[in-house]
Amino acid sequence: MTLHGEALSREWNRSLFRSSFVVKTPDFRSLCKAEKPVFSKKTGFFSRVSDTECFAKRTRCLGSKFDILGDTMTQRYGNIIGWGKYTPKRVVTNHELAQRLDTSDEWIVARTGIRERRIAAADETVSSMAVAAAREALTVAGLRARDLGLIIVATSSPDHLTPPVSSQVQHALGAKDIGAFTLVAACPGFVYSLVTAQQFIASGACDNVLVIGVELISRFIDWDDRTTSVLFGDGAGAVIVQASDKPCGVLAHVLGSDGSGAEHLILPAGGSAIPASHEALVDGLNYLRMNGNEVFKFATRVLGKALQQAIAKAGLTADDIDLFIPHQANARIIESAARQAGLPHEKVFVNIDRYGNTSAASIPIALSEAMEQGRAKAGDTLAFVAFGAGLTWAAAVVKLGERLAPARVSQGLIQLPNWATRLRDTAISTMDRIRALDWVRRVRRPHKHERHDLYAR
Ligand code: ACO
Repeated sequence: MTLHGEALSREWNRSLFRSSFVVKTPDFRSLCKAEKPVFSKKTGFFSRVSDTECFAKRTRCLGSKFDILGDTMTQRYGNIIGWGKYTPKRVVTNHELAQRLDTSDEWIVARTGIRERRIAAADETVSSMAVAAAREALTVAGLRARDLGLIIVATSSPDHLTPPVSSQVQHALGAKDIGAFTLVAACPGFVYSLVTAQQFIASGACDNVLVIGVELISRFIDWDDRTTSVLFGDGAGAVIVQASDKPCGVLAHVLGSDGSGAEHLILPAGGSAIPASHEALVDGLNYLRMNGNEVFKFATRVLGKALQQAIAKAGLTADDIDLFIPHQANARIIESAARQAGLPHEKVFVNIDRYGNTSAASIPIALSEAMEQGRAKAGDTLAFVAFGAGLTWAAAVVKLGERLAPARVSQGLIQLPNWATRLRDTAISTMDRIRALDWVRRVRRPHKHERHDLYAR
């Protein structure tokens, strides 16, 4: 039996008088060993101590971390039990870009570490890539879509401003009627989402949460602008976070935001401030604009610090981190963050050379590869860090639980697409295209008798 809200508070008060009451946190153990129960007029509850601070601490924990299961109170952790990725087939190398832009492979490799990136085909969308990554994560976890309790999609390049892409993903997966939302926090969006998923698990609201980081930035890039077009790539990564009573998942996190630097990385038009218009297109306001130097300075200032803070908050040191999986934005930025946090080169996972900066998809794609390659293993402690538009940043220390699929199982799933997978993907993308064409036809020329249908959906 899992209790929430008032029922939980009642049970907590009753349980204070039971000898079989079990608590697992040191704070609580000392709280329960304290004086005999006293009635607090202020709170209206019995408690072991009259001190309001202890009571506040107790209720905070009650609200966020515990379930009372009969007589036993258990802390819930979010274990990553499944992972998957999708990267488009089309590879665009630096040499290819150098043929149409005033740039070179040497410049791009030296300044960023990028050698090639994946670019989505015309019929691919954020939702189709997210669904492909999510299906893989579900298979690795051994779950079906209907086992999920919540879907969080981190992206800044959704299919449409509205409806939220998370609902399209939920529908395409067949995860009927469950909650789904899109989280927009630029490149750190995946870390923000993972931390959010952890809260849903810890509170007892959900047992299985699907977290996806996905981006299709190539559609928002001016391919004649060498300062941005060489940096980005498309792709998706996903994880399944499952409730566990063993300490694992996000051990500590740091989330940050500084809106004063908003203009340094901005897609000016398409939102409500500058709606899409002919003028906006003519002025190129539909493309991502970036002040690379400022973003670089910001990233090297905050990333190492955030990483150190998260490691310290987890009560660990750099020696305890088995693998550092950073946002793959720039090899020099990654190096600087690792150096500041005291993490040696061998502990840093880098795949920027093959994918470029895939923004919110960057960490889950890298995590997926690290799992497949056996570089991240059961029981390992990982550190994530990311920065991006906003300006925003996030760091997390994550412990992998014991329940992990063997590396070769996920590798097999990822590397051996069979005829059935291809047929399924073709069918899905054809259906998506038909649906999209139908919408365009209906939105552009809604007949009187069709209008009701259109808005009713
Ligand atoms: N090829 C060749 N030359 C170039 C290119 C290119 N692709 N791009 C810029 N240059 C030129 C510049 O015009 C400049 O020339 P100049 O000296 O004649 O004026 C010269 O190279 C040096 O330019 P800088 O901008 O000073 O180069 P820098 O070493 O700072 O590298 C870079 C630029 C790679 C963009 C770097 O600033 C960077 O990585 N910044 C962070 C960007 C980032 O990670 N953004 C993503 C944020 S995440 C998100 O939310 C999407």
